[in-house]
Amino acid sequence: MKRTKVDFILKSDATLDRVLIKGWVRTRRSSKKFSFLEINDGSCLKGVQVIMDSTLENYAELEKLTTGSAVSIEGKMVESPGGGQKWEIQAENVTIINIAPDTYPLQKKRHSDEFLRSIAHLRPRTNKYGAAFRIRSELAYAVHKFYKEEGFRYINTPIITGSDCEGAGELFRITTLPPDAAPPKEGSFDFSEDFFGKESSLTVSGQLSAEMFSLALGDVYTFGPTFRAENSNTSRHAAEFWMIEPEMAFCDLSGNMDHAEKFLKYVVSHVMEHCEEDMELFAKFVDKSLMDTLKTITGSEFPRVPYGEAVEILLNSGKKFEYKVEAGKDLQSEHERYLSEEHFKKPVFIYDYPKGIKPFYMRMNDDGETVAAMDLLVPRIGELIGGSQREERLGVLEARMAEMDLPKEDYWWYLESRIYGSVPHSGFGLGFERLIMLITGITNIRDVISFPRTPGHIDF
Ligand code: 4AD
Ligand code: MG
Repeated sequence: MKRTKVDFILKSDATLDRVLIKGWVRTRRSSKKFSFLEINDGSCLKGVQVIMDSTLENYAELEKLTTGSAVSIEGKMVESPGGGQKWEIQAENVTIINIAPDTYPLQKKRHSDEFLRSIAHLRPRTNKYGAAFRIRSELAYAVHKFYKEEGFRYINTPIITGSDCEGAGELFRITTLPPDAAPPKEGSFDFSEDFFGKESSLTVSGQLSAEMFSLALGDVYTFGPTFRAENSNTSRHAAEFWMIEPEMAFCDLSGNMDHAEKFLKYVVSHVMEHCEEDMELFAKFVDKSLMDTLKTITGSEFPRVPYGEAVEILLNSGKKFEYKVEAGKDLQSEHERYLSEEHFKKPVFIYDYPKGIKPFYMRMNDDGETVAAMDLLVPRIGELIGGSQREERLGVLEARMAEMDLPKEDYWWYLESRIYGSVPHSGFGLGFERLIMLITGITNIRDVISFPRTPGHIDF
């Protein structure tokens, strides 16, 4: 007999003749003639109630079932007399798969996020984390669905690379050389003996590869893991995170922002529609203003503000920031949050950043000082998206690379794309975990990724 998921049972319009459910005991209550189990199988937030009659032949054994134990139950679906849910299961045959000893850490009470991080292998079994990871799954589907509908091609770009796309030096080097290989001589290490014969690392972004494919397939996107050895212990940075990176040929900065806005509205609406029950948990227990924030996202136009104006707004805000606001400098996340959360009260695009704080590939504006960059800032998080129009003019790109001391030889293939059929093109990167934070109201990136990797933490 095939297993029926609890989700399917609870949503069913009519009784199914016989069902087989398998799952974990959340609670057990016993009276003289019956025992009630609440069984959760992870298919949805709620569990289904199972009634075990004392006439069951292994009833004495069944009375030993504890929270966290695993069971298999065959029985009849009957209408539930109490409120709450429509169906419950009258058990006819209950098999114990495993009895969890009473050391099981997830007894029925609220646990702190910090404690649950220390048992990350068990935390998906809690209501909150189960819901978060079901939402994460649905969001990933929404991403692919959106791009399919928009006519984009999904490409997979390398995880092992030889170039630092962002030029920020936050690379995790990979090597097969033994740890005691000869130490660097006068600062330069001999990589010719290494696996690839050259310094190589985990990718910080699939962008450069995605650009090559957009110049062939038109509209493409990547969706995969990226890695950054940023030594910052913040609630918004992880060393391993997932990024969605669309790249569009024949598209300028304004088209790029149009696309980003459409994308965000689509995936937010999708989750609100398809994860109602799980989303309710977050709106009720995690962030009371969540639904308002999300409705603002789907229902309003995102303002577009040049960097220079954003700096003016910050300087005139009268607000005391920890980091000073200074024209020409990068915005700190407190500045980004102020703009989106307090000033505009909705997602806001900041564009045309000073060239000095942005990577080599961004298109130079006519003023020679700013580049066609855009960031999307959102309430509670700050930067959700970072993107740009790319420099498609070979001469300008080469001059920029020389200015930044980037070796032309290493980027010969990238430069060739600016010789053969070069066209204006644009794209961005969206941090998938930050998107989940925005949508669930969860405030720490460690709580939206299965097993977070942050400085000093590689357990699990
Ligand atoms: O702004 P970033 O650095 O942009 C790029 O990497 C571009 N090459 C993307 C592109 O144009 N194809 O990163 C993009 C986004 C950020 O806006 C942020 O949401 C997320 O990636 N991000 C991180 N998320 C979690 N942990 C980190 N350490 C992150 N660093 C960036
Ligand atoms: Mg950025």
